[in-house]
Amino acid sequence: MIEPLEPGAHRHRWGLESAKVLAATGLAVISLALAATLSGCSTFHTRTSAPRFPSTGASPSVSPSASPSRRHQTTVTSVNAYPTPSVDCNVVKCLALTFDDGPGPQTSGPLLDELEKLGVHATFFTIGSKISAAPGVLPRAHDDGDVLGDHTWDHPDLAKQTPAHVTSELTMARDAIASDTGALSYLIRPPYGAWDDTVRTVAHDMGAAIILWNVDSHDWQTRDTARTVSSVLAQAKGGSIVLMHDTYPSTVAAVPIIVDQLRAQGYTLVTVPELLGGHPQPGWVYYSQHDMIHPDSTQQVSQ
Ligand code: NI
Repeated sequence: MIEPLEPGAHRHRWGLESAKVLAATGLAVISLALAATLSGCSTFHTRTSAPRFPSTGASPSVSPSASPSRRHQTTVTSVNAYPTPSVDCNVVKCLALTFDDGPGPQTSGPLLDELEKLGVHATFFTIGSKISAAPGVLPRAHDDGDVLGDHTWDHPDLAKQTPAHVTSELTMARDAIASDTGALSYLIRPPYGAWDDTVRTVAHDMGAAIILWNVDSHDWQTRDTARTVSSVLAQAKGGSIVLMHDTYPSTVAAVPIIVDQLRAQGYTLVTVPELLGGHPQPGWVYYSQHDMIHPDSTQQVSQ
């Protein structure tokens, strides 16, 4: 087992409180505050206990002919192409369930059944090369109101790839999702939570935000329903982004229990764009509703 990756040494998170402080002070003070905050960076870092995912076996240099043919003509018209959220997560206590590494031919359909029964919309970070083996899953998720995100074409560690390969991994998956559903994704989740400035630049140029998480269910590791439930419930707080995987039956079984428990605690379950007010910002890195990294530290965080 490979150790989980440290996302990066330079990383610095801009929380809401930092933004308020910066907004209330002048430019001269900003530089002082920045220096002070940067010096305390380690307190803001979390080691992302990222999931390890076995290679799908596909070559990283997949030829264009491997892409699905397009059913829908799509063009990038806006970097904020998500509808206005149905709830205001600055008012109500929200939480976003996210599912990586699908679509799973045996598991994603049953999960969509559960979500539909519960009346919950979730966010799925999809591996492009797996879409063709699970026909119908993504269109159904999209039609149900779930949000689809980009989890690369075949799940490499993007921080170890060339810029050209980072671009091809992300654009091929985005195009495959668009071909299958007619919807362009503006959300990227890099495999293992591993990103660097190249990944962030590519994401920005695609109009996409990088979405990480602050609650790791470890479902890929335990593959146990009760432990998945208890792990999520123990870490959940308002504004959380929860990492799970729609590739394990144990996770599918855990979801209705998690949803019932969270609702009993007053949570409203939302998609990631809803959690972020409908406007995930290109090139920003989000760990939760309240915990994010701004691409330009001289600008105010507005969320
Ligand atoms: Ni993954």
